[in-house]
Amino acid sequence: MRIGPFELPNRLFVAPMAGVTDRPFRQLCRRLGAGYAVSEMVTSRKDLWHSLKTSRRADHTGEAAPIAVQIAGTDAAMMAEAAAYNIDRGAQIIDINMGCPAKKVCSKWAGSALMQDEPLATAIIEAVVASCAPHGVPVTLKMRTGWCQAERNAVRLARIAESAGVAMVTVHGRTREQGYKGAAEYDTIAAVKAALRIPVVANGDISSARKAREVLATTGADALMIGRAAQGRPWIFREIAHFLATGEDLPPPEVLQAKQWLLEHLQEHYGLYGEFTGVRTARKHIGWAVRALPGGEAFRAQMNLLERSEDQVLALSDWFDRLADLHQRLPATSGAANDDLMALEA
Ligand SMILES: Cc1cc2nc3c(=O)[nH]c(=O)nc-3n(C[C@H](O)[C@H](O)[C@H](O)COP(=O)(O)O)c2cc1C
Repeated sequence: MRIGPFELPNRLFVAPMAGVTDRPFRQLCRRLGAGYAVSEMVTSRKDLWHSLKTSRRADHTGEAAPIAVQIAGTDAAMMAEAAAYNIDRGAQIIDINMGCPAKKVCSKWAGSALMQDEPLATAIIEAVVASCAPHGVPVTLKMRTGWCQAERNAVRLARIAESAGVAMVTVHGRTREQGYKGAAEYDTIAAVKAALRIPVVANGDISSARKAREVLATTGADALMIGRAAQGRPWIFREIAHFLATGEDLPPPEVLQAKQWLLEHLQEHYGLYGEFTGVRTARKHIGWAVRALPGGEAFRAQMNLLERSEDQVLALSDWFDRLADLHQRLPATSGAANDDLMALEA
């Protein structure tokens, strides 16, 4: 699997998720089997580039190549400038966001709303490619199947992107109108794959190794992108990789191993966000990690009251030690339970 000059170790990608796929989480997922990670979106608005939020998003310290940065915006010239700005700060691949349904972006006609305006979408793609080409930086595109059920124009837009020089297209199998409701459909992704020569990545509702195999088979996609199912379960990438390679399930991680990974993630997380913000934003990662485990909901409620990083670390550590007295490996959660949890997150 290649994106431009970059050879990737496998075809399992962690999805860009604003407020989730920050540097520590990307590094954790890559360590646990993701072959590629795209950063949370960075706005094309220049006035926000020096904000704390954007500078944290543009922090790639210690991250392995290729560093991929997603940009979001509504204006072709601003998007071209945002691409150049991020390349100056270390981006080696630029991803254009035409997949995100967040209102904040869509009220300004960015993200997946761009799919409704093909001339504007085309102008943005062409401007970003022109800005990246002199640096040898590939441009990728992330989109949905279309704006609404009646307007599923993913194939048309993907063709436009390929002709404009885009190196890879990712398709989330829902329309903008659907948000995260209903089930992802894979026929449109299969149609995009059939229409293009560049790599196509399938995304949406991949929550288990078996589902991963099924989506690869139905779409013929070159790679898979996984978002919500990796929240609190970053080892899903190695589980899928193992299953695809051998046809056998990898046993769940040992409780003490999972504890170690989560504690290491927390340290990186506090390092990026600092004590105050770090403690508050770590709560969701801890909550995701324990929610489906026995007693996890009760622990989550107590843990949310803690105000200091050292207390969070101690509480998490004790809780996992107690779980380890009862179980050597993480108790398996059913696929249905995972799907319910994903629906809750959306
Ligand atoms: C909390 C959250 C934040 C997201 N932020 C972004 C984003 O910044 N850019 C983007 O292209 N997609 C974003 N997405 C969409 C995901 O990348 C992905 O397409 C979607 O969640 C479907 O995949 P999944 O079913 O594996 O979660 C976000 C999704 C979630 C749940």
